[in-house]
Amino acid sequence: MTLPITLTDDVFWIGVNDRETHLFESLMPIPEGVSYNAYLINDEKVALIDTVKIDYNDALIENIKSIIGERTVDYLIINHIEPDHSGSIGAILNAFPDMIIVGNSKTANFLKGFYSKTENVLIIKENDVLELGQHRLKFFMTPMLHWPETMMTYEETKHILFSGDAFGGFGALNGGVFDDEVDFSFYEDEMLRYYANIVGKYSNMVQKALSKLQALDVKAIAATHGVVWRKNPQYVIDLYDRWSSYQAEDGVVIVYGSMYGNTKKTADVIARAFANKGMKKIRVYDAARTHISYLISEIWRYKAVVIGSSTYNGSLFPPIEQLISKMENSALQNKILGVFGSYSWSGESVKMLKQSGESGKLTLAEPIVQWMFAPDEEVNIQADMLATNIVNLLKE
Ligand code: FEO
Repeated sequence: MTLPITLTDDVFWIGVNDRETHLFESLMPIPEGVSYNAYLINDEKVALIDTVKIDYNDALIENIKSIIGERTVDYLIINHIEPDHSGSIGAILNAFPDMIIVGNSKTANFLKGFYSKTENVLIIKENDVLELGQHRLKFFMTPMLHWPETMMTYEETKHILFSGDAFGGFGALNGGVFDDEVDFSFYEDEMLRYYANIVGKYSNMVQKALSKLQALDVKAIAATHGVVWRKNPQYVIDLYDRWSSYQAEDGVVIVYGSMYGNTKKTADVIARAFANKGMKKIRVYDAARTHISYLISEIWRYKAVVIGSSTYNGSLFPPIEQLISKMENSALQNKILGVFGSYSWSGESVKMLKQSGESGKLTLAEPIVQWMFAPDEEVNIQADMLATNIVNLLKE
């Protein structure tokens, strides 16, 4: 993008857009791309805050030089060392060999392990301050958001919080960089998908970080992905508070795995039963055709989830097995779960779904809807009862 892009007079966004990568972390589709946000403070001392993925080294160095010319970068602050933000360290050090890398003791360990870098490293701890001239940077440890070394850097003069991955999301920045420049509905969906799949497992740590932030006057939030918040940073803080405390919207996600359509038939019966009871937000997904990252995001969004699986080789239908495993790994809470499914001889799938519901922190709704072969009218009655019971539980 055409630079400079200015947060305040001498604080700049100098990130890059990635519209080339298909799978983020080699795992999650990013059809709309992603941005790697780095920032530069051009003060008496020049500070670079985070870098970008290794593929974009040249663009980052070009962005830096477009602002500081022949000056050097004095400090690189590493809020998060995952390689999508630290991949450029080697190239940046080549360009600015006297640069000091700033991070906490855990960052130093990763720095050594990933990049064999041990010299010119300044180790800071909670509440330490780095003076740049006009700007003072204060550091807050926010471990497990979402790696052990993650921290945030608070610029005290202009009240900007450089937050690492927290408050970030998928989606390249298509011209607009700031919250007041974009149609946020798209970015909010992609923020939730990022949260649910990457950060959500550590929601208790998000709550701890949010408590810490309460003491700060935050006028802008600058994350390592996605939109920069300068008009309404409280909006995204509130979103994180809701998501990390498992507050969800009224609505239901129905996900099914069906080999020949018998489990799918009942998914549609359940969906119709919800509609008959006045529910508007009903989302139905075929697990074999929808990437799990979208399913987890939708499950995080809504209060109820109904999962159907045919029995496949004495177990769950494989995409549903993967979904259940991811749900358990995400430590999902405060959801109502309904389960259903068909089988032709042994019928393990629904038993396994039921066990999963009983062992987690979800409320398992009755009845458990299971049948042999094709669903009949009795199955439809059971499916209707399940929807009725879930609607009643939602009212509670
Ligand atoms: Fe964007 Fe956790 O790296």
